Amino acid sequence: MSHQELESKLVERSELAKLGGGQAAIDKQHERGKWTARERIDAFLDPGSFREMDRFVTHDCADFGMEKKKIYGDGVVTGYGRVDGRLVYVFAQDFTVFGGSLSGAYARKICKIMDLAVRNGAPVVGLNDSGGARIQEGVKSLGGYADIFLRNVTASGVVPQLSAILGPCAGGAVYSPAITDFICMVRSTSFMFVTGPDVIKTVTHEEVTKEELGGADTHCETSGVAHFSVPDEAAALALLRELLSYLPSNNMEEPPRRETNDSAERLCLSLDTLVPENPNKPYDVKDLITTVADDGSFLEVQPQYAANVVVGFLRLGGRSVGVVANQPAHLAGVLDVDSSLKAARFVRFCDAFNVPLWVVEDVPGFLPGVDQEHGGIIKHGAKLLYAFAEATVPKVTLISRKAYGGAYCVMNSKHIRADLNFAWPTAEIAVMGPDGAVNIIFRRELADADDAAARKDELVADYKEKFANPYRAAELGYIDEILLPRETRARLIEAFDSLENKRDRNPPKKHGNIPL
Ligand code: HXC
Repeated sequence: MSHQELESKLVERSELAKLGGGQAAIDKQHERGKWTARERIDAFLDPGSFREMDRFVTHDCADFGMEKKKIYGDGVVTGYGRVDGRLVYVFAQDFTVFGGSLSGAYARKICKIMDLAVRNGAPVVGLNDSGGARIQEGVKSLGGYADIFLRNVTASGVVPQLSAILGPCAGGAVYSPAITDFICMVRSTSFMFVTGPDVIKTVTHEEVTKEELGGADTHCETSGVAHFSVPDEAAALALLRELLSYLPSNNMEEPPRRETNDSAERLCLSLDTLVPENPNKPYDVKDLITTVADDGSFLEVQPQYAANVVVGFLRLGGRSVGVVANQPAHLAGVLDVDSSLKAARFVRFCDAFNVPLWVVEDVPGFLPGVDQEHGGIIKHGAKLLYAFAEATVPKVTLISRKAYGGAYCVMNSKHIRADLNFAWPTAEIAVMGPDGAVNIIFRRELADADDAAARKDELVADYKEKFANPYRAAELGYIDEILLPRETRARLIEAFDSLENKRDRNPPKKHGNIPL
């Protein structure tokens, strides 16, 4: 064959591979409001940077007439490319080929790029759209899933792993994303469930729609399985790019810095009056975060779930920082089961990937109640305590208002290795709020008092004077410095600069035993 003929053959086969399940299946994919695997990769990566691997792989199944149905690529497009010039490995499941279902060959393609990603220290991004295990392949498909799960686990904490859910993800297709660091779902077109509505109806006689069972809002608001819910695929892919901009490529690197014209000395005058004079009045902690952040920009993670704690990424003086903040505007910022889990997982992610932590504390304590106790608040609250205590990245706390009870200890206190602990003059640091404290300490006296109400007011005022302020903690050295709110941005940037070369590590061990 001539060189020209050889080249034509390559072009011809490549064009065939690019068609995946064929034009009719592509049209159907578009009718469903979804993009093809290749369209997604093109939208996600820097233009022209994608290098496809294993384009000509086919399955090796000979049952159910499958030997006559071989399609190049076999339902998943894999390879590597660049995001903002940085190397990223990517796989995109192709629903036009056997519903994106996973065969042994398909699993090997994903495993190959995961192995390369870990060896080369680059993130893995999965664009998921799959009917789960390829039924015709049987156990070979199950084995393929398990091969991927193993790699997800061993890569966890080594390279960032991000998942976009862009169609149905049923059965085994959900567990790989579940082990990854962040999941982004598209509203209306994406679903995640272990067993679908039909199976549920048969087994438990419950009737539920796909959307209610495992749609984006269900997983972002109710189950907490997913982290971001977006309106369309373009938004999902843009969000993954933005997320990567805050992260290092692997656990041996620092996150990239992004230069800013936002001055490090900028005063934040609005913060001087952010905390209301009445300590029982709420304010929005996101106003504090965005006022302090470079250019006011903040990527909130899990905004719809457990809104009493706010977590996400911002930059301070160009440096990527993870923030964990109690939210007084929701349930008074109390810590409960869901918020503890949300915050603990985020803290562990930041620690694994060298993202410094900033904690904003305004918390009346842990939520009392039978539901919480029976739901395991002891165990789940302990996870947050554990996560902060084991974290060795730079850790800075700012107490804006309440720091009461166990929540004081848990929220990155000095005692669990925070590096710098600041408070605003509005801080109240004590075992509990003035009212509750007086009721307990002076119960007998108040019961016997002639004018109990007046006496109680007096005692509450006295308690406030003594304890509902940051000075007792500052006298003990538990607070390093009391800051004026307007200075917060400048002082945080200085603080993180001072911690740039922090060295701290936990004693050698196989792994700890976080209270799961
Ligand atoms: C083989 C599959 C498939 C599968 C879909 N297809 N799922 N082929 N194995 N698992 C094929 C369909 O036969 C169809 O082929 C094409 O993909 C498109 O599917 P449709 O049903 O037409 O699409 P849609 O109406 O959008 O429904 C998508 C779906 C549905 C919700 C994913 O197909 C479905 O429920 N599939 C089965 C899901 C499932 O039970 N998977 C196994 C889970 S068990 P044609 O040729 O008609 O176009 C599992 C165990 C792993 O994963 C456990 C590991 C821990």
